[in-house]
Amino acid sequence: TDLSHIRNFAIIAHIDHGKSTLADRLIQICGGLTDREMKEQVLDNMDIERERGITIKAQTVRLMYKAEDGETYQINLMDTPGHVDFAYEVSRSLAACEGSILVVDASQGVEAQTLANVYQAIDQNHEIIPVLNKVDLPAADVPRVKEQIEDVIGIDASDAIEVSAKTGLNVAAVLEALVQRLPAPTGEREKPLQAMLVDSWYDPYLGVMALVRVRQGVLKKGQKVKLMQTGAVHLVEKVGAFTPKLTELAEIGPGEIGFMSASIKTVADCQVGDTITEEKRPCDAPLPGFKPSIPVVFCGLFPVDANDYPDLRDSLEKLRLNDASFSFEPETSAALGFGFRCGFLGLLHLEIIQERLEREFDLDLITTAPSVVYHINLTNGTQMDLHNPADMPDVMKIESIEEPWIKATIMVPDEYLGPVLSLCTERRGEQLELTYVGSRAMAVYRLPLNEVVFDFYDRLKSISRGYASFDYALDSYIEGDLVKLSMLVNAEPMDALSMIVHRSQADLRGRAMCARLKDLIPRQLFKIAIQAAIGGKVIARETVSAMRKDVTAKCYGGDITRKKKLLEKQKEGKKKMRQFGNVDIPQSAFIEALKMG
Ligand code: GTP
Repeated sequence: TDLSHIRNFAIIAHIDHGKSTLADRLIQICGGLTDREMKEQVLDNMDIERERGITIKAQTVRLMYKAEDGETYQINLMDTPGHVDFAYEVSRSLAACEGSILVVDASQGVEAQTLANVYQAIDQNHEIIPVLNKVDLPAADVPRVKEQIEDVIGIDASDAIEVSAKTGLNVAAVLEALVQRLPAPTGEREKPLQAMLVDSWYDPYLGVMALVRVRQGVLKKGQKVKLMQTGAVHLVEKVGAFTPKLTELAEIGPGEIGFMSASIKTVADCQVGDTITEEKRPCDAPLPGFKPSIPVVFCGLFPVDANDYPDLRDSLEKLRLNDASFSFEPETSAALGFGFRCGFLGLLHLEIIQERLEREFDLDLITTAPSVVYHINLTNGTQMDLHNPADMPDVMKIESIEEPWIKATIMVPDEYLGPVLSLCTERRGEQLELTYVGSRAMAVYRLPLNEVVFDFYDRLKSISRGYASFDYALDSYIEGDLVKLSMLVNAEPMDALSMIVHRSQADLRGRAMCARLKDLIPRQLFKIAIQAAIGGKVIARETVSAMRKDVTAKCYGGDITRKKKLLEKQKEGKKKMRQFGNVDIPQSAFIEALKMG
């Protein structure tokens, strides 16, 4: 297609503002699918995405639109992930387009996630078309939301398009605006191939697929291409586009977006942001901005039933095929047995993987408390990355510990602002900004990430009755007064429950954990001491008193078969018990203790 007849755009929006519904409508208008095929939302195509109503992987479709000027345009629509954990994927998707549609729910207004994405689009010099969605709702307040877009984001909203993606009202105007307002892409066909790898995923039939945006040159079947970051060379097997059905094409030319498949083994070899060029005629330089995704939140995943360990490993490998930003390695815990230490882009990413393992792979899992990555400066002058509190070196060997801080933006109706500010303060936050737009407040804070992985989202949602929205970006590593809090049972440490905390929080956390464990650990024939300690110093203690002997004696009466059954049962129960010194602790106690953070 002639470049002047191509438009590439992304849809950006806060979660639930109607991005996928609008995308489906656009596809429908362009005749990409029949009504029956439209029944299900097309763009959110993973089960979990559909159920949770969130978009995880960016999807792209190519539509042919006959505009009012009588010409037919190739319109490439790129869906972007709506969540903070996938910010880098959003930035790559935006880099592949010339413009964005900013969808704002007219009954809700601008939210934290809208802001984060729209600022990224502004950074990419995008032409932005504001679209107010859900105008069919009685609560829609168009003038107020327009004003908000202008005040908060600072873009002109006078020509915002008012639509209802649900009823289809005015949606065609969005396509017309794309043609008229967005610039066409540029790029020369004759130059050496230079294409950005926007996304990659694993298809069970075609293998690893890469979504690409060609900047210059042409990408064709049979070409030998080179990934400039990894240096790997691959033979291109197929190129094509989703219309939204997978359609093979002869080539992907400059300015176009499409997919390629090549005999690439894993998505890890196909990293988002990499530059693809032709092996025998490479381009001068890779496209700017490549940044490998680095996991920032780690936790242990253990099978409830030790027999599931091989299944868990296989499942993790399968997930990793499709998700290069997720990492795992074997881990052993005295409390939980054999499992894996896994790294994620953030808490939602963790939840999604955990849920997929439990649902798609039918595994019962124990998840240890999420931890961030600390930089530990050792007295011998070296630095180590600590992914697991259990691996913390001896305090005598530690010079200092640095922890990651984030810059967080919280938007909340002002009646809930008080508790939100207290929560930030309680979590060691430092306020950077506090502004109002109408009756909504926007607070910008610097916060230690380890305070955020500890039930921050849940607390924020509950104190604001779900009205607060939250977004963050990693800021920097800063030295902190951090200590390892260990939990002991009759003086034996329980590795799965140790955590790194700020010294000022240690007492509180230690006492809370002791109190919980006291309720969770069943009485035994002797007294059990539960302690929280920093190094050798005990800071909190609870005691589980001994059980009276005759209680057990009763169990062993009765006839022989019953006795046998009981013994059988007991044996089974034993398997699920974990021994710490002389104390047997049921695995369920750990699960419960971990659930509560
Ligand atoms: P993510 O994929 O998580 O980013 O969400 P999304 O922005 O794609 O939202 P989605 O399209 O799934 O819509 C969220 C909810 O809003 C769904 O229940 C839709 O049916 C509803 N919705 C979308 N557009 C409209 C609209 O114009 N009017 C009304 N009343 N509801 C809408």
